[in-house]
Amino acid sequence: MTSAEKNPVENNGQIDFQSVQELTRQDIAAVDQIILKELTSDVVLINQIGQYIVNSGGKRLRPVLLLLAAKALGYEGNHHLMLAAVVEFIHTATLLHDDVVDDSDLRRGRNTVNAVWGNAASVLVGDYLLSKTFEMMVCTGNMRVMDLVSHTTTAIAEGEVLQLLNIHNPATTEERYLEVISRKTAILFSTAAQLAAVLTESSEETELALKNYGLHLGIAFQLIDDVLDYKADPEQTGKNIGDDLSEGKPTLPLIHAILHSEKSQADIIRNAIREGDRNSFAEIYKIVESCNAIAYTERRAEEEAQRAIDALAVIPTSTSKDVLISLAEFSVQRNF
Ligand code: IPE
Ligand code: IPE
Ligand code: MG
Ligand code: MG
Repeated sequence: MTSAEKNPVENNGQIDFQSVQELTRQDIAAVDQIILKELTSDVVLINQIGQYIVNSGGKRLRPVLLLLAAKALGYEGNHHLMLAAVVEFIHTATLLHDDVVDDSDLRRGRNTVNAVWGNAASVLVGDYLLSKTFEMMVCTGNMRVMDLVSHTTTAIAEGEVLQLLNIHNPATTEERYLEVISRKTAILFSTAAQLAAVLTESSEETELALKNYGLHLGIAFQLIDDVLDYKADPEQTGKNIGDDLSEGKPTLPLIHAILHSEKSQADIIRNAIREGDRNSFAEIYKIVESCNAIAYTERRAEEEAQRAIDALAVIPTSTSKDVLISLAEFSVQRNF
């Protein structure tokens, strides 16, 4: 990796995400313009809900990844802006659906759309956003883009359904969990990075490198999201903690704890997964901490982030590449 002094977003190994946002501010502003334009509908409720969720913030991490990757590959056109909006729309649609499925009531520091307007509105506006992405990517006229993005939305839906099958199942294995998070979360990161290679008609080797970078970064990102669901400060994440436990979601901290705690403790966890019991949060968290299941999950995330960084070896050195490396590190260090 390049030295810390040369990297504009890193200081003593700590990633400053605000600097990343500062660095990509102009492009992200252009992407946000596209997002706002594409949200406009003569159906008032779509505008209202769309503005509500989009204006409530969000890290815009997937668009940032796509834009930086495009820059690292020397892209000179303007389709990257539309495609960055596409990946953010897909992400936003999955959040609207996910908060219904997970029965969550806080997102980005605000009441979720389902909490304010109800489940039906959240699902239907999520569908609207997904449909819009098809209109938007067709604008690029690029068949490979359409092939990649449409396979991505299919994989995300498969991931969400696979996850549904694991809910309340304490026998869920680490392997099965990884399959779920790869599809529901990591593939979108992977596609965001890979699209830059498609746009620049880069070599197969480069395309594979970016695809793998995004995939491993995305796995790390979700591993940490699942840690944060146990130990984050809601003021920082804008989400409640304990949502996964109350849904009976067998994430890696619980899967690992079942295998590495005493039988009586493992039984308590199994039972909480079966029942989806938020009241046992404090007790479960203690068990999960005491058998190092949080530390294990964080270590797995670090390994994935390192794989992401290793995948970039074939990409030429540049500031954008350095920031991509930093984003892999951020996905593990983050507390929001
Ligand atoms: C939340 O993603 C959903 C997951 C895949 C864990 P982000 O943490 O990127 O959400 P926003 O867009 O910043 O709110
Ligand atoms: C991410 O999983 C779901 C999506 C890919 C939309 P989570 O259910 O853990 O995401 P959060 O924690 O609600 O953001
Ligand atoms: Mg959720
Ligand atoms: Mg979560």
